[in-house]
Formats: sequence, structure tokens, C-alpha cells
Amino acid sequence: MTTPPRIPRHLAVIMDGNGRWAARRRRPRVIGHRAGARAVNLCIDFCLARGVEVLTLFAFSSENWGRPPDEVGALMRLFVNALEREIDELQRRGVCVRFVGERTRFGAAIAGRMDAAERATATNARLTLVVAASYGGRQDIASAARALAEDVAVGRLRPEDIDEAALGARMALSDLPPPDLFIRTGGELRISNFLLWQLAYTELWFTERLWPDLDDATLQEALDAFAARERRYGLTGEQLPVGGAPATGAIPVAAAATDIIGR
Ligand code: IPE
Ligand code: IPE
Ligand code: MG
Repeated sequence: MTTPPRIPRHLAVIMDGNGRWAARRRRPRVIGHRAGARAVNLCIDFCLARGVEVLTLFAFSSENWGRPPDEVGALMRLFVNALEREIDELQRRGVCVRFVGERTRFGAAIAGRMDAAERATATNARLTLVVAASYGGRQDIASAARALAEDVAVGRLRPEDIDEAALGARMALSDLPPPDLFIRTGGELRISNFLLWQLAYTELWFTERLWPDLDDATLQEALDAFAARERRYGLTGEQLPVGGAPATGAIPVAAAATDIIGR
């Protein structure tokens, strides 16, 4: 009997390379962003077909606000269009959408649409799609630290109770399994201030392929690479159960080592 392939429960993706995709065609960068929107749907369908539970997409970083105003404006228009157009499709496919990042920076109109999309899809359970928009990993850690400080200030928490779990519970995505697999398209070998805390034990996979050129074969290549990895969480290979540590994020990072060896 063959064992079923190990599928990541949570896939986190940096969708990079839109600008270069357009430049290679001598087109403005916004054309690349438009083409990138199609790849988002392909990625969602792939996750639905493979049974991935959570897909987190890095759509716009806190640093991306510093791009030329016309590019930021074009990205905002694309974002609004996608919010209007795609909600029914997400509903049909059973996708629950959530946003992480500094929502208020988008202004009331876009933030209101984000709230509405979350409300409309809240009970869908086939796939949770997390869109990281105006998100920065450092800012995520800083706001969790601020939340801890506020709890201490009002007497809800003692400083000696601050530990990894207390900080982790105040970070984005704390109610979801941590990412099992990280994919970055576009060839850059960096994290670019994505989920700094949450990626502690995530398997990393990079491809030269530009985001608008994404296809099923590339995503399958990433899943195959993931299935072949041995996740040791700091232990030795000999300490792992036969067949290796679970491929999924079932084991929270902080508890990983003790859970695997069963004490
Ligand atoms: C990723 O593609 C999309 C966003 C950051 C919004 P880029 O726009 O960064 O494309 P490249 O990296 O310049 O090719
Ligand atoms: C990361 O890509 C952010 C998103 C894909 C949303 P960037 O293109 O902004 O990252 P750098 O500048 O190459 O590090
Ligand atoms: Mg880029």
C-alpha cells in the first residue's frame, strides 16, 4: 500500500515578478499586476483540488506603499475590482476570505469592502484564503508587543506571564495552523518582511518562474519537494516517529519538539 502524499495544511506565498513579467513584454508594470490576478485564481483552484486548508497570499507589503503613486493607485483599483468581482466566485467555491495587515491605511471605502467580503464568506469551510495587504512581519510583531503591553497596563497580564504563546496568540493568523510550505515566485531568495514569526519552522521553496506565469506543474513541483522533506523541528532524524514528523502544521512550533518525541 502506498502512503498518501503529504499535503501542506497551510501554504504561504509571495507572489513576486509581476513587474518583470510586464517589462519583458515592454509593457507597463500594471499589465503585469493584471496578469498576476489570473494566477491568484489558478493558485486557489490548485489548493481546493489538493485539499490545502489555508492559503495565505502576500498581495501588498507595508513597504510597497513607497512605490510610485501611479503604481500604488493602479494596484488599489485592481484590488477594488477583485473585491467586487470575485466574491461570488469565492462563495461558489466555498472559500472563506480574510485580510491581515493595516486595513485602515486603505481608506474607509476599501476597508469597508474588505469587511463585507469577510462577512459574506465567513461560513465557507473548504479553504481559508488569507490576503496579506499592507502587511509587514515586523509591524505584526510590534503590534502584538503593544497588545501585550496594554494588557499589562490594565492588569490583565503579569510581565512574568509573557512567553512565546502569549506573544504568538496576539499575532496575525494565530488561530490557524502555522504555514507548512512557503513559496516565492520571481527568483528572489528572501522573505521581504512576510510572516517573520509564523515562518519559524516552515519549509521554504523558491522558483524563478514569474507570478503571472504560474501553472499547476510549478505548484505540484513545490508540493512534491515538500513531501520529500524531513521536518525535524530541532530534533535528530532518529528521534522522529517512523515515517517522519507529520507533514502538516498540526504541531505548533513551540510544542513541536516535545510533541514529536512524546514527552
Ligand atoms: C509582486 O510583483 C506584486 C507586488 C509587490 C504588489 P512586483 O511588482 O514586485 O514585480 P517585480 O518583482 O518588480 O518583477
Ligand atoms: C514582496 O515583494 C511583497 C509582495 C509580493 C506583496 P517585493 O517585490 O515588494 O519584495 P522585494 O522588494 O523584492 O524584497
Ligand atoms: Mg517584486
